[in-house]
Formats: sequence, C-alpha cells, structure tokens
Amino acid sequence: MPNLSLNHNNKPLRVAVLVSGSGSNLQVLIDAMQAGELPIEIVGVISNREDAYAITRTQDAAIPVAVLSHVASGKRIGIKTFEKHAFAQLQDWQPDLIVLAGFMRVLSSDFIQHSIAPMINLHPSLLPAYKGLNTNQRVIQAGERHHGCSVHIVTAELDAGTVLTQALLQVNPKETADSLRLRVQKLEHQLLPWTILLLAKGVLTLNTDSSKDNGSYLPALPLTLFINQ
Ligand code: GRF
Repeated sequence: MPNLSLNHNNKPLRVAVLVSGSGSNLQVLIDAMQAGELPIEIVGVISNREDAYAITRTQDAAIPVAVLSHVASGKRIGIKTFEKHAFAQLQDWQPDLIVLAGFMRVLSSDFIQHSIAPMINLHPSLLPAYKGLNTNQRVIQAGERHHGCSVHIVTAELDAGTVLTQALLQVNPKETADSLRLRVQKLEHQLLPWTILLLAKGVLTLNTDSSKDNGSYLPALPLTLFINQ
C-alpha cells in the first residue's frame, strides 16, 4: 500500500466506504459525520451487490454511490473486473482513507498494493484469532470465553494486517451464534467510528514502524482498545 500517513491539514478526512450488505456500520459513520462528531467527508460508497441495503442508506444521505455488482445477467463476474472499475471510481473520488465495512469479497494483492489510499477493514473477531468467515459460530463451537471485533490495516494476506483497535465482550454461557452476532455488531458500531476519529485526529497512525519516536508524551499507537459491555 502506498502512503500510510494521513496528512490532510485539518481538513475533513476524505473517506470512501466499500460495502456488501446492510450497511449498519456505514450508517453509524454517516450519522456521526452529519452530527459533526466525526471530522470526515464520505466521498463515496462502493457496493459489490445491487441488493445491498447500504445503497439506500447512501442515497438517503445524498452521498455518491457506485454499484459494481459481482453478478451480471445471472453470471458471476471475476474480482479483477470489479477491481478495475473500483480503482477508476476511487481515482475519481480521491479518498484519504478506504474503509471496508462489511465488504464481503477478497481483494487481490495487486489491488491492495496499488490502492490510492490506505485501507482498513472491520472484522468480527479478536484477530489474529478467527480470521475468515462465520466467526461467531466458530467462537461458540470452540467454547471461547471472549470474543469481539477488530479494525486492521488491509494487506494482501486475508485479515492479517496490523490490528489498530479491538473491542471485547464476554461470551455468555447460553449464547447462540445469532445473539453473539448482534452483540458484536453493537461493539462494531462503537469501534469503527472511534478508530476513524483517532485516525482523523492523527492520534492513531497507519505507519506501523513503531521504532520511530514521534517526540510525543503520549504512548505510541497502535494500542488495543477495550470496550467492556
Ligand atoms: C459486520 O458484522 C462486519 O464485521 C462483517 O459484516 C458485517 C457488516 O454489517 N464483516 P453492516 O453491513 O455494516 O450492517
């Protein structure tokens, strides 16, 4: 990935969001932005599914949306075609940061490496544990006592980039995958805007070189953030 420092001279951080589904996390960002609580401008949303409710949320907020469906005339389209159009769209919007919020396709290493802005992803597990899909189900099956969500830098290896923030919950004895999913989603709605706020304010940096002393009294981040509820 190219430039990992978000240098935007106190202007709102230009954010592009990639989605595939309901877009409840996107909605939280829209609401916080509109309330003036998050110094960002959502410059555009890309959905890879034309039936995603996230599209309606984007249109309701009068934010540009590009629907780059993975299916055309009943046929599945390869990721490369999606990426070609997504790349052109992102060039047009010129975001400072790209946020994958419930984006359910795996991007190629080529796309990630040539991205015009750093990319972060929201993942429903305490990474590095439970990469991939069906995390809630697998957590229950394994009898874990803790679970949560992470925001991490997107790298070519799936769900393996540096973790920026995490939020944690305790798994209840009678928990089901569904109840856990809802509880994790509530945490996500807190973790994602907070992480973007920390990035926008320059408190959290995407430069993973921890050997650099920034001359600040505050400890170097990334730092694991626990929201206990
Ligand atoms: C989130 O739970 C995210 O962790 C997962 O997909 C879900 C997206 O939810 N990858 P929404 O579309 O933001 O409602």
